[in-house]
Amino acid sequence: MRRPLVAGNWKMHGTHSSVAELIKGLRQLALPSGVDVAVMPPCLFISQVIQGLAGKAIDVGAQNSAVEPMQGALTGETAPSQLADVGCSMVLVGHSERRLILGESDEVVSRKFAAAQSCGLVPVLCVGETRAEREAGKTLEVVARQLGSVIDELGVGAFARAVVAYEPVWAIGTGLTASPAQAQEVHAAIRAQLAAENAELAKGVRLLYGGSVKAASAAELFGMPDIDGGLVGGASLNADEFGAICRAAGS
Ligand code: 13P
Repeated sequence: MRRPLVAGNWKMHGTHSSVAELIKGLRQLALPSGVDVAVMPPCLFISQVIQGLAGKAIDVGAQNSAVEPMQGALTGETAPSQLADVGCSMVLVGHSERRLILGESDEVVSRKFAAAQSCGLVPVLCVGETRAEREAGKTLEVVARQLGSVIDELGVGAFARAVVAYEPVWAIGTGLTASPAQAQEVHAAIRAQLAAENAELAKGVRLLYGGSVKAASAAELFGMPDIDGGLVGGASLNADEFGAICRAAGS
């Protein structure tokens, strides 16, 4: 069976001292043994978090990495090989804030996915529709295009060591969570798209839901058959709330 994963995306939040406080809170959490837990701090604080969480069963990931795998002349970017070197195990790819605010295309997303994977990082591919796309009845089409572009470029086999996160843009940071049924519908479609290429592989791919996940809504979402955990933004900045979400994934 798929092991649940809960990852906290801290986005562009934190200072040296607030990160130290959050590490202290995370260290004190009682975490369920059957759930993988990860946090994704801003790049600047990754080493601080890795050192601060040493010995605690929480993985550390990054929120973005470069299109090229190895270090070199690419000002302002971080190579996935550098992230692996400091101890990161995963990286978000194609978060909607990067697609929509920074104009990251499907092509760039595929390149980042491949570069990250070639360095041993697990890419967490983020997909999801905007409110206008949902209202136009295009949700499944948009998500299928975003996922399909990576499958077309890299082959479905790339998903043997990857995670997919469905994050409806209208639910991110808005307090509007997709209903468990709305989320399940899209998760089932994602799994079916993977299964159309390789049924056995599709059964093992972890699909996370993200978008205003809170402790109060987590258990019901994670109880759906194709939802294998969460990608948590705002609520992951509060250690106790994040711990409660992790425990919901273990119940
Ligand atoms: P919120 O949980 O703050 O809605 O953010 C979700 C998200 O974008 C995680 O990547």
